[in-house]
Amino acid sequence: ESFFSYSEDGKLRCENVDLTQLQNEVSGKCDQPFVVYSKGQLVKNIQGYLNGWKDGVKFSIGFALKANFNPNILQLIKEFNINCIAVSGNEVNLALREGYQPQQIIFNGNGKQRWERKLALQAGCYLNIDSAMDAKSTSSLATELGVEAKLFLRINPDVTSAQLEGVHEYNSTATSDSKFGVSSQHLDEVLEIINSNENLHLVGLHCHLGSTIKDVSVLLDNLRYLMTLGEKLRPKHQNLKVLNIGGGLGIDYYHQTEVGVPSPSDLIKALNEEPGMDDWEYVLEPGRSLVGNTGMIVGRVLGIKEGAKTGKRFIVTNVGMNDLIRPSLYNAHHHISVLDKAQTFGDPMPFEIVGPICECGDFLAKGFTMPEPVAECGIAVWDCGAYATSMSSNYNLRPKLAEVLVDDNQWCLIRRAEALDDILRTFYDLRGRPLETS
Ligand code: LLP
Repeated sequence: ESFFSYSEDGKLRCENVDLTQLQNEVSGKCDQPFVVYSKGQLVKNIQGYLNGWKDGVKFSIGFALKANFNPNILQLIKEFNINCIAVSGNEVNLALREGYQPQQIIFNGNGKQRWERKLALQAGCYLNIDSAMDAKSTSSLATELGVEAKLFLRINPDVTSAQLEGVHEYNSTATSDSKFGVSSQHLDEVLEIINSNENLHLVGLHCHLGSTIKDVSVLLDNLRYLMTLGEKLRPKHQNLKVLNIGGGLGIDYYHQTEVGVPSPSDLIKALNEEPGMDDWEYVLEPGRSLVGNTGMIVGRVLGIKEGAKTGKRFIVTNVGMNDLIRPSLYNAHHHISVLDKAQTFGDPMPFEIVGPICECGDFLAKGFTMPEPVAECGIAVWDCGAYATSMSSNYNLRPKLAEVLVDDNQWCLIRRAEALDDILRTFYDLRGRPLETS
C-alpha cells in the first residue's frame, strides 16, 4: 500500500489527490512550494509502532516532536495515545497546549535553561538528565520549588562510528566525544547527586544512539547495554523500571526496494525476541520513522542550466535549502520526481538539482538521475515529513511553507504560507515601535 504513487496516466498523487491540481490550488500567486502530508501514511506508521508487541510487555511510544511540530500532526498522533519527547521549553509548552498530560512528556536536553527546567518540573513532566551539571541544577531547582521529579538518565555508551555505519557524524549522538549523555566514568557522580535528594526519583535509563540507523541489531545492542546496566543499578534504585532506547530508526530515502530499511514492525519483532523483555517497561522515541515518509515538498522547475566547462546540468527549482536543509547539512539523499511524467523527455541522465538561494551549498541532490523535466514542471521532493519544516528558516527572506493534509480525496490547509509581513512583524524601529506592516 503506497500513499504517494503515480496513476496510470503518469500523474503523482497523494492518496487520491492529484498533486498537479493541488499545486494549482495551493501554490498561490507567488507560486510557492508547499508541503503535502498523507494522513493514511501517518496512521500506518503509528500502527507499525503500536502493534506487534509481545503480550504483557509494557511500552510507550514518544514522538520526538523536533521532527515535526505542526500541531495538527501532534493531534493526530495524540489520538493514538502516543506520548511526546520535547527538547525545549517551547516544545514542552506546545505539547501541554495540545493536551498532552505532563506524564506523557519527557523533557530532554544537554543544555536546559532554568525557565525550561522549571516549566517541566512544575508541570510534572519527566526530565532526562544528561550530565552532572544537569543533575545538580535539577536537584537544586526541585528543592527550591518543593516538587518531586521523575527522572530518566541519559547514558553515553561510547559506541564507535563503525557501529553506526552510514550515520552522518552530525547524527551520531553516543560516541564518547559527543556532547550527549553520561559516560561510565561519570555515572557514579551523577547517581550520587540524584540519590542524595529525596525529591528526585530515577525511573528509567535512556540512550539515543543517533539518527538514520538502518540496522536493527545496533538498537538491540543498545537495549542489552541498558538492560545490563539497569540490572546492576536496580538493587539500589527501586523506582528504576523503564528502559528508553531512544529513536533513530531510519527510513528508505533511496526508495530502492531491494535494499530497503527495517520498519518499526521489524524493530518490534526483534525486540520481542530479546531475553529479559518481561522484566522492564520500554520507551521508544521515534521521530523520522513516524513522520518522515508522510510528507513531500511540492515545488516547481524554473529551468535547466548548463555548466560551461564540465557540461554539468542543473535543474533549478524554487525549493531552497531554507525549506530543506538536509542535503546541504548532512549530504542527505532525498528522492525527487516530477508531478507529471508527460512533462519529461529523453533518457534519464544525471542532474544537479538546486534551489534559488544565494549560496553554493543550496542543493537538493547531486548526480541525481532522471529524464529531463520541462521548465515550469511541478516536482516533488520525497520524505520531507521529518526535519524539513522543523528546520526551515527565513534565509534570503523566504517565507516558511504552507502545509496541506490529505485524507483520501480530501485535503485541507494546516498551515498557510508565511507572508513578508509575518516575518517583519517582530522587528522594531529605533524608537522601539513595531515596524509598520501593510
Ligand atoms: N530521541 C532523542 C533523544 C533524539 O535526540 C532524537 C533526535 C530522537 C529521539 C528522534 O530521532 P529520529 O527517530 O527522528 O531519528 N536533523 C537530523 C536529525 C537530528 C535528530 C536529533 N535527535 C536530520 O535531519 O537527519
